[in-house]
Amino acid sequence: MLPKLRLKELELELPIIQGGMGIGVSNYVLAGNVSKNGGLGVVSSAALDRLTSKRLNSFFNARQAACMEVQEAKKIAENKPIGINIMVALQKDYENSVLGALDGGVDVIISGAGLPLNLPEIVSSHPRGNEVALIPIASSGRALEIICKRWKRNNRLPDAVIVEGPLAGGHIAWRSIEEAENPNNSLELLLKDVFKVTQKYNNMPVIAAGGIFTYEDIQKYLQNGCVGVQMGTRFLATEESGASDEFKESVVNCTEDNIVLADKPGSPCGMLFRVIKDCPFYASALEGKREEYCDKGYLLHRGTCPAKASKEEAFCICNGLLAASGYNNEVEEELYTVGANAYKVKEIVTVSELMDELAGKETSVSAKNNSQA
Ligand SMILES: Cc1cc2nc3c(=O)[nH]c(=O)nc-3n(C[C@H](O)[C@H](O)[C@H](O)COP(=O)(O)O)c2cc1C
Repeated sequence: MLPKLRLKELELELPIIQGGMGIGVSNYVLAGNVSKNGGLGVVSSAALDRLTSKRLNSFFNARQAACMEVQEAKKIAENKPIGINIMVALQKDYENSVLGALDGGVDVIISGAGLPLNLPEIVSSHPRGNEVALIPIASSGRALEIICKRWKRNNRLPDAVIVEGPLAGGHIAWRSIEEAENPNNSLELLLKDVFKVTQKYNNMPVIAAGGIFTYEDIQKYLQNGCVGVQMGTRFLATEESGASDEFKESVVNCTEDNIVLADKPGSPCGMLFRVIKDCPFYASALEGKREEYCDKGYLLHRGTCPAKASKEEAFCICNGLLAASGYNNEVEEELYTVGANAYKVKEIVTVSELMDELAGKETSVSAKNNSQA
């Protein structure tokens, strides 16, 4: 019922990419199962050194951990394609995460949360560099144009672009809540803006993301000229995701007005960050109870992290997100990031059930959602 998705030399049974979800939410188990069920599973590179070292009780650096995460996902996926999401904002480990993923046989590298200007350069230093599909995440035609111009210097263009709109989970590209909520920045209008640029660059495939929830939503974006969609929140709410039980329960129970954009205090990345307002970590941050703090250093910018400077401006997302996937959550509060439509999630399902629903097959889950709609 849905068309296949072609990316570089890859062919996926379904045009559905599971968005990378750090920290530890889109782990090898989730990604492996998504790919096994016909979509593209994407592991997140965020803090993989810590997560892998803890899981295997031995020390692994970022390059080794990215390699192992991809290999494990591929095993579950029965060798179908696997992607990795590497955030530009994770400056300390960016290059090693790219190289490690290539060592592990990754098929697709997706990179956003900043402009991935030097990705082709890093990739070209690896023997598998030409094999991998490179997909930037952009939220405007202008951002994509800057990326394309720079990538051309390395004789590469994106193999596709993911256009992420303001309803997405995690970080979003706008710097003020007014801009994020401005109807001129709707995903539909952003796509039009981006299509003008893709026409200049071989009509590269366009993938829509942010707020996409149902089979009908997917069809709508395919009819609008996209080759596929990327979805995060639906996959967060699966049995296989690495989110803690408390995080999943909070997604099922949250209401629309409980989902907010954290601004001040907000993410040290300097972008708006969508959260469940009453999750333990954010509730404390709003009350001014979280001290200036950074002990992980993943987001270091010129040697410092804004979470160290002022608790009115920023909080340490690394510790809160690690806790939300069960790392040190006995001593640390959990921070829950979700997409704007997370309140529509009614239950936690398996990846296989979700993929059936998204592919338009009648399932007990879709029947229930339809009867509630
Ligand atoms: C829990 C969570 C964590 C996320 N982490 C990342 C991340 O590490 N890197 C990234 O590029 N996008 C991240 N995202 C965004 C997703 O990859 C995806 O593009 C987005 O959630 C799509 O919107 P949707 O949730 O409405 O489907 C995250 C989203 C969620 C819900």
